[in-house]
Amino acid sequence: MQKILEIKDLKKTFYIKKTPFTAVDGVSFDLIRGECLGLVGESGCGKSTMAKIITRLIEPDEGSILVDGTETLNLKGKDLKKLYQKVQMVFQTPQDSFDPRHTLGDGIMESMRNLGISRKMARERAYELLKLVELEPFFASRYPHEVSGGQCQRAAIARALATEPELIICDEATSALDVTVQAQIIELLKRLQKENGLSLLLICHDLALVQNFCTRVLVMYRGKIVEEGIPDDVIRNPQNEYTRVLVDSVF
Ligand SMILES: Nc1ncnc2c1ncn2[C@@H]1O[C@H](COP(=O)(O)OP(=O)(O)OP(=O)(O)O)[C@@H](O)[C@H]1O
Ligand SMILES: [Mg+2]
Repeated sequence: MQKILEIKDLKKTFYIKKTPFTAVDGVSFDLIRGECLGLVGESGCGKSTMAKIITRLIEPDEGSILVDGTETLNLKGKDLKKLYQKVQMVFQTPQDSFDPRHTLGDGIMESMRNLGISRKMARERAYELLKLVELEPFFASRYPHEVSGGQCQRAAIARALATEPELIICDEATSALDVTVQAQIIELLKRLQKENGLSLLLICHDLALVQNFCTRVLVMYRGKIVEEGIPDDVIRNPQNEYTRVLVDSVF
């Protein structure tokens, strides 16, 4: 089975007034191409830090990140940018994905323009992407503050899809939305995953969501992966003390 992502022994320590705090403490896992992998764990356990390290928004202290077999930590500039076309991230608050001074259409076009795609082609593709995420074309000319949270998250997914990524990391991408909109967005991601063979890393608090949507789940606790398995098995028969607490608190 082909691995789209291989994480080995990642470590990150933050210093708060010279006091060290290890937010990610030796994390290793693989993500198989086409799989939807869940990452769950209590608030502050290091999930977003992991996501930001994988997408290189934060540099790790130690470890290795292979995207499609290529070590990313040695890459810089153009080469890094090229590899990271394959990896996109969708954030918890969709408004964060867009510059408030630009329309959603411009936001979606921006990453394509950065790849050297002509304005005309990028515009056409932006309309296709809006359609794909079930937004009317007129949303292209709206500003982020002029749309609902769910609409903005759809546009953020369109933006993430613009570079034709192979892996999308969703960091609590639906947590800010109400339950029905949340289900719609998840259905959308599910469809895109099936139709485009997309790989997904779904970071969330919600074990029930992971159970419905993911083929495998990682449980993170205090910077470490403490359990890994098929969601049904993990929920029915948790092996780790902390996982048991997490399961009990949800079900
Ligand atoms: N830049 C930073 N400087 C110092 N500490 C940080 C920094 N970023 C994160 N931390 C700390 O690292 C820990 C992990 O944070 P992180 O955001 O990864 O948690 P999380 O699992 O995503 O939580 P949540 O579910 O609430 O989003 C937290 O204790 C946080 O306070
Ligand atoms: Mg987080």
